[in-house]
Amino acid sequence: MNWVEMKVRGLREEAEGILGVELCAVKGDALPFSWTPGAHVDLQLAGGLVRQYSLTNLADEGCIRLAIKREPRSRGGSQWLHEQLRLGARIQVGVPRNLFALQPGTGPVVLMAAGIGVTPLLAMYRACRAQQRPVQFYYFSRSLAHSAFLAELHAQPDVSLFSGLSSADIAAQLPQLLANRQPGSQLYSCGPQGFMACVAEQATAAGWPSTAQHREHFNAPLQAPELPTTHQVPTVQLVLAKSAKQVLVNAGETLVAAAARVGVTIATSCGMGMCGACMCPVLSGEIDHRDQYLSDAERQSGRWILPCVSACSGEELVLDL
Ligand code: FES
Repeated sequence: MNWVEMKVRGLREEAEGILGVELCAVKGDALPFSWTPGAHVDLQLAGGLVRQYSLTNLADEGCIRLAIKREPRSRGGSQWLHEQLRLGARIQVGVPRNLFALQPGTGPVVLMAAGIGVTPLLAMYRACRAQQRPVQFYYFSRSLAHSAFLAELHAQPDVSLFSGLSSADIAAQLPQLLANRQPGSQLYSCGPQGFMACVAEQATAAGWPSTAQHREHFNAPLQAPELPTTHQVPTVQLVLAKSAKQVLVNAGETLVAAAARVGVTIATSCGMGMCGACMCPVLSGEIDHRDQYLSDAERQSGRWILPCVSACSGEELVLDL
C-alpha cells in the first residue's frame, strides 16, 4: 500500500450521522494520484486502525471527498473520525483502488443505492452526467434526514429518492424499477448485504444477465466496525517458517493477530477478506477459507490464505512468512 499524507480541508454534516470529509494535498498542490468512479481509499486512523471509504467525487476536483457514516457499534473507526477529526489535521491516505469500476462505454447505467451505499454510486452518477451517458439512480434511505447529498440529487429527473421504506417495501418496489432493461444496460448496487442480495435476485428474475450486474462487496463491510474472529478453539499451531517463529492461536483470534504476538506483521487493509492485501503463501495445513477474494482455483490449490479472516481447520498451519 502506498500512503500519502493529506490535510483535512473541509468537514460538514452531509446528513444525520454522515460526516462529509474533504481531503487535499498538504501544500494545496495537485494530488499525486487519480481514480475512477467506484474507487475507495484506505485511511489510517488512531490505534493502527485502517478503514476504507468510497470516493464520492471525480478526480478532476483536486481533492478527495468522502462521506462517513457513524456506525452505532464503532470501536474506533467511524467514531474516531466523527469525534476527533479536525480541520487542518493530517491523515495518511492510501492511494485509491477500484474494485467496483464503472464499465466504460456509452450504454445506459442503473444505480441502486441504500443507506451509505450511496457513496460510490454518487461518483458513478456524476461521471455519467458528465459524459452525458443515460443513467437512472435509485436511492433508498431510512428517512430524508438520513439522505446524503439531497441538495444535489433532489429534483433531478434521473434520480428517484425513496425514504422510510421497510425492507419488504423496498423488495416490492424493485421489480418495477428493474423491469424493461434497455439493451446494453449495466446495473450497479451498493448498500447492506441484504439489500444487494435482494437487488441481485430481482434483477436476475427480471432478465438481467449476471455480466450486467455489479455489486460493491465492500461497502457494508467497509464500514463495519467489528473485526472477524476465526479460531474458536485454541488448538491451532501457527508456524511462520521464514521467521522461524510459532504461536498457538487463541480462541476468537485472527491469524494476523496471532502472528503479531510473535512480532510478525502481516500487512492488512480491509480486514474483512475482501481486498487481498494480506494474502499469504501456505506451505502446509488445512485451510478454512472465509474470504471473498480468492478464486476457486486459488482455494483448491491450498497454496494461499487470507489470514485476516480465514482459519486453519487442522492442528497446524505453516505459512511461508
Ligand atoms: S486485509 Fe483485506 S483481505 Fe485480508
